[in-house]
Amino acid sequence: MQIYCTPNYDAMSRKAGSILASLVVLKPNCTLGLATGSTPIGLYKELIARCESGELDFSAVKSVNLDEYIGLGGDHDQSYRYFMNTNLFDHINIQKANTHVPNGLAPDADAECARYESVIDALGPIDCQLLGMGHNGHIGFNEPAEHFPLVTHAVDLQPSTIQANARFFATMEDVPRRALTMGIGSIMKAKSILVVVSGKDKAPIVKRAFAGPVTPQVPASILQLHPNVTLVGDEAALCELLG
Ligand code: F6R
Repeated sequence: MQIYCTPNYDAMSRKAGSILASLVVLKPNCTLGLATGSTPIGLYKELIARCESGELDFSAVKSVNLDEYIGLGGDHDQSYRYFMNTNLFDHINIQKANTHVPNGLAPDADAECARYESVIDALGPIDCQLLGMGHNGHIGFNEPAEHFPLVTHAVDLQPSTIQANARFFATMEDVPRRALTMGIGSIMKAKSILVVVSGKDKAPIVKRAFAGPVTPQVPASILQLHPNVTLVGDEAALCELLG
């Protein structure tokens, strides 16, 4: 595993942005696996700036996102499709038809999971899968469990997640209870993985994930078994791992 430790969030975003940018330069028709969450926002700003300056061309790039809430359409401001459009896709010259996010409004969640897994396979191996990490070691919506889920699947959100999301919705009834997520197997099929972490609050789980035992109780720990992982984090997030 390659580890890059940066002084702060902005430097982390520039470093991780450079890694994805170099892939786009070297392979203009690459497939990027993308993530939502607060950590990649600075990295996405980097990519937008480099596209605006003419350094990057996304016209042949394809993307697949990790996850989406069940029940939210792409025009809902809390959907992950909306997040990707507003934080990246609307600002670069990627073709929207080449961007893939699970369909949260699909009438049959299991059929949508099967369709999405076949989209991932049809695109060929993801060249680089970007991941953030939850405080409990979750990646995508793969929460601590008894086993590592293999393929794209529907999950029931944990009560703590539902509670935390409540502030973004008008009523408690509107808060999504389920989500669609790539499985751990879907993620591990990627040729390379780029993990971004920032902030002191992530330091304990970063250490558990990358220096502790590989266990489904810490889903990100599986990444220790992937042959091509790059971890980019700021000092605050990496301090416990690097000691
Ligand atoms: C995002 C995702 C999540 C986040 C994780 C970290 O698509 O699947 O696993 O990567 O919750 O989120 P942040 O970056 O907000 O700390």
